[in-house]
Amino acid sequence: MNTVIEKTGSGTKNREIICRAGKVIRSGGLVAFPTETVYGLGANALDREASEKIYRAKGRPSDNPLIVHIADKSMLAPLVKEIPEAAEKLMEAFWPGPMTLIFQKSEIVPHSTTGGLDTVAVRFPNHKIACDLIQESGVGIAAPSANLSGKPSPTEGQHVIDDMDGRIDMIIDDGKVGMGLESTIIDVTVAPPMILRPGFITYEMIKEVINDIQVDKAIFMKPEAGLKPKAPGMKYRHYAPAADYKIYRGDAEEVAKTIILLANEKADEGKKTGIITVNQHLNLYEGKLNRDIIVISLGDLYKPEKIAGQLFKVLRDFDKLGTEYIFGETFSEEHVGWAIMNRLMKAAGYNIVDV
Ligand code: TXA
Ligand code: MG
Repeated sequence: MNTVIEKTGSGTKNREIICRAGKVIRSGGLVAFPTETVYGLGANALDREASEKIYRAKGRPSDNPLIVHIADKSMLAPLVKEIPEAAEKLMEAFWPGPMTLIFQKSEIVPHSTTGGLDTVAVRFPNHKIACDLIQESGVGIAAPSANLSGKPSPTEGQHVIDDMDGRIDMIIDDGKVGMGLESTIIDVTVAPPMILRPGFITYEMIKEVINDIQVDKAIFMKPEAGLKPKAPGMKYRHYAPAADYKIYRGDAEEVAKTIILLANEKADEGKKTGIITVNQHLNLYEGKLNRDIIVISLGDLYKPEKIAGQLFKVLRDFDKLGTEYIFGETFSEEHVGWAIMNRLMKAAGYNIVDV
């Protein structure tokens, strides 16, 4: 399939792109588009065949439901059976923004969009191009992250091109996204509401809006542990780089010592080896590594939002370099740190070593 790739630009150019992209969505095609979190791979959420195409393009298991994106709160009511009071409060506080809510679905939402479930995930993104595209299409847009299934979510237009060129109708390339981590998912069909996936809207922020909140216990369990996550997508090995990736937890200096030892060993065996660290720890590695080892910093340890936004890019960069072994550090699990550790653990296949 020929994929039309359009780079965004001036207001006039963007309007023209949106107009064409809207036509593709209305005629049952697939368009990858930017949101404030990560790029989405969109189709008409109410068109059974269109949403089935998404699964094929991503190589996504058909039991993994899609998020329906809306551009106005008034688009929610037709998609759901009821809007619980807690949901009203959360929407008031965090929409438009990086929060997805799970509702009981109405009859018009096909089971192909919801992975066979009777619930539907809905998000109102805070992004002009995403919202203009939804308005232009005139329907909710079902969109998972626009990566091949199992790969890190795309945070740059080029990541989408790398994964989806030739597989979908159109890609809107808007460069880098603002946040770089997928939305927080909250199930509001249960009382109290339950966090199914951590994100930029943190546990602490949610607790300020609705006092009672629970957390899906499976979030931090290895898939083999037997607890089934309530968000089906959380059970798959995700965000995975091609390399063997392990993360090390403990005192920063001890962690660095262990990583230096192990990374040098692998590099001596002739393996392409990388280390993921933060600005504040770069000095712990300086002058102590075999010179072929690639060290990448995620940024400032005290700016976790920035770190969260770099994770997927760094994992993809290591893939492009053909890295075979990656050694990484862990982060505090407070606030956004919880989401960072959730994604890192999944990327590392839960390979975490206490030092
Ligand atoms: O920020 C985001 O959420 C991005 C942008 C594009 O909006 N989208 C995204 O979609 O991350 P995706 O498909 O990669 O992740 C959606 C997650 C999956 O883990 C899926 O299982 C879960 O949401 N999900 C969707 N519908 C659900 C439902 N009805 N019940 C439980 N989990 C659901
Ligand atoms: Mg995804």
